[in-house]
Amino acid sequence: MPAVEHLTRHDAFLLRGDGFAYALAVTPEGDLRHLHWGGPIAPDDVATLLTDDPREFGSNTWSSPRAHTEELVAHGGRRLDESALKVEFADGVRALDLAVESSAVSDDELTIRLADRHYPFAADLHYRVRGGALERWTTLVNDGDAAVVLDRAYSASWPLPWQPRWVATWLAGAYAAETQVTRRPLGPGRLVLESRRGIPGHAAQPWLALDAGDDARTNDEAGSVWSVALAWSGSWRLAAELAADGRLHVTAGVNDFDLRHPLAPGSSWDTPVTVGVYAGAGHDELTDRWHAYERRHVVPRPGVVRPVLYNSWEATFFDVRPESQVELARRAAALGAELFVVDDGWFAGRDDESAGIGDWTPDRAAFPDGLKPLADEVHGLGMRFGVWVEPEAVSPDSDLFRAHPDWIYQWPSRPRTLARQTHLLALSRADVRAHLVETLDALLSSAPIDALKWDLNRPLTEVSDGDGDGSVWLGHVEGFYEVLDRVRALHPDVWIESCASGGGRADLGVLSRAEWVWPSDNTDALERLAIQNGYAYAHSPHTMMAWVTDSPTYLTKREIPLRFRFHSAMTGLLGIGGDLATWTDAALGEAAEYVAQYRRIRATVQYGTMRRLTGAPDDVTAIGYLSASGDQVAVFAFAPSVRRLRRTVLLRLRGLDPAAAYVDAATGTRYSGALLHHHGLRVALTGDYASELIVLDRD
Ligand code: GLA
Repeated sequence: MPAVEHLTRHDAFLLRGDGFAYALAVTPEGDLRHLHWGGPIAPDDVATLLTDDPREFGSNTWSSPRAHTEELVAHGGRRLDESALKVEFADGVRALDLAVESSAVSDDELTIRLADRHYPFAADLHYRVRGGALERWTTLVNDGDAAVVLDRAYSASWPLPWQPRWVATWLAGAYAAETQVTRRPLGPGRLVLESRRGIPGHAAQPWLALDAGDDARTNDEAGSVWSVALAWSGSWRLAAELAADGRLHVTAGVNDFDLRHPLAPGSSWDTPVTVGVYAGAGHDELTDRWHAYERRHVVPRPGVVRPVLYNSWEATFFDVRPESQVELARRAAALGAELFVVDDGWFAGRDDESAGIGDWTPDRAAFPDGLKPLADEVHGLGMRFGVWVEPEAVSPDSDLFRAHPDWIYQWPSRPRTLARQTHLLALSRADVRAHLVETLDALLSSAPIDALKWDLNRPLTEVSDGDGDGSVWLGHVEGFYEVLDRVRALHPDVWIESCASGGGRADLGVLSRAEWVWPSDNTDALERLAIQNGYAYAHSPHTMMAWVTDSPTYLTKREIPLRFRFHSAMTGLLGIGGDLATWTDAALGEAAEYVAQYRRIRATVQYGTMRRLTGAPDDVTAIGYLSASGDQVAVFAFAPSVRRLRRTVLLRLRGLDPAAAYVDAATGTRYSGALLHHHGLRVALTGDYASELIVLDRD
C-alpha cells in the first residue's frame, strides 16, 4: 500500500499511514477540498466522499468556504473563520486568492502548490506520512519583485470530522509545575493555546488532543482521538475553533502575535512542521503513536539506551570546586552513574546569578588548567563528562557584553529588560551565530566533554536586532537551530539535554536536536509524578530526565523517602541530583541497588509500551511498561498517603499476551497474561509514601 496515492481520475489524494488515512481533492474550480482525517479508508471510499453532499445550510452569515473543508485557510474573500495565512502585498492588498496549480507525489510525500490568482505568490502545502503520524508544513514563495509581508503564517489548518461533542486534552502548567493534564469540553468559540515568549514556555506544550468526551465513547482503551503538535522552539499558537453546528478545525503554527515578516523578492520561507496523530483506540493508542513517532522520526540516536546521569546542581549550586565535584563523581560512579554533568557555576565570574553568562571559559581559580583534569578524573571513574551552558543569554557583567553591547535584542529608545539578570543574544544575526559556534566549539575542544545541558532562562523581549530585515521571533529560533546543528555537526559524539528553566523548551523542534529534556526544575518526587504523567502524553519516556534529589527538596521542602524518590525517577531517564557527600552509607547502598535495578529495566522503560494504569494521578499513581519484545513488564505504583485503610491496589495490566505466562522475578509467582489483563496484579501499598516496582518476566 503506497503511503501517498494520486487518484488521478478524481484528482484526489489519499495518504495512509499506521492506523490512519487522510484524503483531499482538487475541485473543478481549482480549490483544495478536505475529505477525510481519521481511521483507514480505501481509494473507492474517496470516490464516494467526492459524491457526498453534506447539505449544509448556506447562510450569508457563514464563512465561505467553511474552514473545516479547507487544507489551509488563507485570509481573503468571504473567509470569516480562523485563518492560517494572512499576508500584505506591496500595494497594500491584504487578501489572498489561492488556486491549486500543481501537485507532486514522491514516496511518502505529497506537495500541492496553491498559487495566487493575481500576485506571483504561492503556498506549497507539504504532507509526509511518518508511521502513525502525518507531518505537514507550508513553503511560502514570493516570486515577485517586491516584499510580501507575512502577518500570519501557520503551518496548516487541520479539519476534523463532525462529532456531537468535543473534549480537549492539553498539557498546561507553570514553572516547576509543567505539563499538567488538563481536560475540558469545547464549547462554541475558540480554544487558544500559545506562547508569546520566544520559547515554547511553561504555560502549555505545543500539543493538543481532541476526542468525543468523557463518556463510554472515549477513554484510554477506546474511541477516536485526534491530536496536533508543532515542532517549533519559539512562540507558537494552536487554536481549535468550534462552530455552533459542531464543525471543528485546528490551526497550528508560529504565533502571529507581533509577527510582521517581510518575505524578500525571490525568496521563500518554510513554516515549521505541524504533526497530526490520529488514534482509533483511545488515549493508550494515541500515546503509543506519539512515542513511536518520536523514537523513529524525531530524536537523535534512535534506540540507544540513555545513560544514568548524575548532575551536581542541587548539590553544589554555584559553589563549583574541583575537589567537591570529584568527591561527588566518586560517589556517583559507585552508585552506577554513567554520565556526570557539572551544572551552572563552573565558568569565570559565576559566583551567583549576577555575572558570567557569555564567557564560556572555566573559572581560573577553580580550574587553572581548564576542565580537562576534571573530565579526565570523571572518565577515569568510568563515566562520561558534561557541562551546563546557556549560550543564548549574556550577563551585563561579562566580557562578551562589554565587547559587544550591540549583540543583544534591544530598542534604541527603551530600557533593556533583564530576566534572571541576563539579556538575550540576537541569534537572528549571522555574526552572533558565528561567535556562538566558535565559542562552543572551543569549549568542546578544550576538554573531553561528552555532553551539554543547553539551558535558556529568559523570554525574548525587546524584539529588535537593529536590522529590520526579518522578524526576530522567527530569526531567533532559526539561529538557535543553526547554532545547535552546527555544534552537533562539529562534535557528533556530544549528547545534548534541552532545558529552559526546566521544561520551557520541550517541543518536537528541539527534540530533533537533543537526546533528552529536563522536564522541570521541580525534583519533588510526588510533584514529578503529575508532571511526568502529562509529559508522557506528548513525549517518549526516553526523553524525560528525572533526578533523585535530597529530602526535603529545595523547592517544595517536602520530605519523601529514598525509595519513593527513586521509583518516581525510574519511570523516565534515571538521574541523581542529590548531595551525595551527605548521604549515609545505608542510603548510598540502597541507591546503588535501585540504579542496578533500573539498568535491568531501562530499555523497557525508555523504549517499551507505556500504560497509565490509574487515571489522573492524585491518590494512587501506577504506570506499566512492556518491553518491545514483550518479554519484560515493569509496573510502578505510588501512594503518597494511607487512605481509607487501603492496603493494596489491583492493577489491570493492559496489552499483555493473554496466552503467555509472566513470572514475578522477586517472588516467583506465576500469572497468566489473561489474569493480569482481566483481573489484575495485586500490589501492596502500605504507609505514607508507599511505592512498589514489580518486574515480571515472560516465561
Ligand atoms: C535553570 C535550570 C536548572 C539549573 C539552573 C542553573 O533554572 O532549569 O536545572 O540548570 O538553571 O542556573
